[in-house]
Parts: sequence; C-alpha cells; structure tokens
Amino acid sequence: MSCNNGMFFHRIWYHKNGYRILNLNILRRFRSHADRSILWSRDKRNSLGREQFEFPALSSDGTISGGERILSNILSDADLGILFRDARTYSAWLDKEVSPILLEAIYDLAKMGPTSLNCNPLRVVYLTTRESRERLRPMLSKGNLEKTMLAPVTAILAWDTQFYDLLPKLFPHSDARASFEGKPDHSETTGFRNSSLQGAYFVIAARAVGLDCGPMSGFDNAKLDAEFFPDGRFKSNFLCNLGYGDATNLRPRSPRPDFDEACQIL
Ligand SMILES: Cc1cc2nc3c(=O)[nH]c(=O)nc-3n(C[C@H](O)[C@H](O)[C@H](O)COP(=O)(O)O)c2cc1C
Repeated sequence: MSCNNGMFFHRIWYHKNGYRILNLNILRRFRSHADRSILWSRDKRNSLGREQFEFPALSSDGTISGGERILSNILSDADLGILFRDARTYSAWLDKEVSPILLEAIYDLAKMGPTSLNCNPLRVVYLTTRESRERLRPMLSKGNLEKTMLAPVTAILAWDTQFYDLLPKLFPHSDARASFEGKPDHSETTGFRNSSLQGAYFVIAARAVGLDCGPMSGFDNAKLDAEFFPDGRFKSNFLCNLGYGDATNLRPRSPRPDFDEACQIL
C-alpha cells in the first residue's frame, strides 16, 4: 500500500505488520541536498488506523514552504530503522554467538552518552554462559525465565552506589565528589537516574552494532544483588538479553502515544 502527499511526490509503503517503510529514492533525493537537510513531521494515522508519515514540503534548495531553511544532519533511513523504527524487543534468539568484541563496543559507545556531572554510574556484568545465567533462575519472573536461559548473553545493568569516587577523574573541573559524600538520597537519585539513562544508551548502542535486545525489569532486584553484588556496593537496575533476535513469533508492534498525547510545544 502507498500514499502520496506533500508538495513533491513521495510514497510511503506499509509493511505487513502495519509500520511504514520509506521509499529510499526519496531519501536519496533528500540526501542530495547540500547538508542532507530534512525535517521529519509528526506521525499521523490514516483512515485504516495505520501510521502515516508525512513530510513537510521541502523544496530542492532545502527550504520548507514558509521559506525556512532546515539544517540538520540526519542518519539514513536504514540507520534510523536499525536504531528505532524496525528495532523490536526480542524474546527468542537465533543460534548465533555474540562476539565479545561487540560487548566491549556496546559499552564504549554507551559510555559516551551524557550523564549529570559526567558521573557514569552504570556498571555492567555480561553473563555469557548458560551456567552464569542459571544463577539468575531463582530471581527471574516466570515470563522472563526461558528467554533468558536461551539468550546468548544477558547483561546485568547495575549502578555503583559509590559512583562519586570516580568524579575526580570524570569531572575534574570541580570538586563534584563532595556534593555526594554522606548524602545517600542525593546519590541514590543521581545514580539511579543516570544509570537508567545509560541503560537506554546501552540498548541503542547494542542495536547500532547489529544486536537485538530484550530488556527486563521482571526480576527480584534484592535477590539478584545478594547473588551478584554481595558487598552491597552495586545495585541492579534492569537486565538486558542480547543476541540476534528470532522474529518468527514477534507480535505486531504496539502503538506509541502520538505526539499530541505526549508532547507540548509552548
Ligand atoms: C526497562 C525495561 C523493562 C522491561 N521489562 C520487561 C520484562 O520484565 N519482561 C518482558 O517480557 N519485557 C520487558 N520489557 C520489554 C517491553 O515490554 C518492550 O520493550 C515494549 O513492549 C516495546 O516493545 P517493542 O520494542 O517490540 O516495540 C522491558 C523493557 C524495558 C525498557
């Protein structure tokens, strides 16, 4: 299925699961503009209830209809698919090993995402063997058990309650460590918030190196911490299965809140 709209001709195809696939020729045309300028407009639903992606009218000199020049670098449509549009949460895995080099690459990308005071509280434990994942068995929710046992790798995404000890190195411009020492509430808020952010960067980084993810919070954090972090310094945030996803039994993508439901422009 396709539809046409906007000032110049473009088409949107729909995948059988209902999500859109851009005509790459359009992207090529956009990308021939001097600075790959493009403006993405909001998602809309068409009469069939499927997502319809609209472009504003963009003329050949990179301006939109009001004459405003849109300047931004943007990844290719294929890249955006890998990171966001086509990426799914997986529960089943192909029988394909994950190279340890990729596990390093994920962290090396994810660590570059921003955190407050550059505090980087995330700590990662990669469970790469069946034996190591078996240690998770007693604390996993029922629905997360089998997919985790069968995943090539499970990452424990945790945070260091003493993350501030690294601040003299990570944020040398000021004595940031002093603002956390002896302030457990402030440390907890900062550590949990920023490790969650880093967990999100981790998922996107894993996708960027060609892996699929299955993030999970359905487990007993206290039991996990007792098993893997008995000295109490690290605390688990969430788990993330990693591998090459088997899409055979994937449910269709669930909808997201529309722009107007989630955002305001004031
Ligand atoms: C922090 C976090 C925790 C999650 N916990 C679970 C979980 O315990 N079990 C599960 O099956 N899915 C879990 N999910 C997966 C979400 O349900 C899934 O990402 C969401 O429904 C979107 O699916 P999609 O990526 O395929 O569109 C979790 C996702 C995140 C980010």
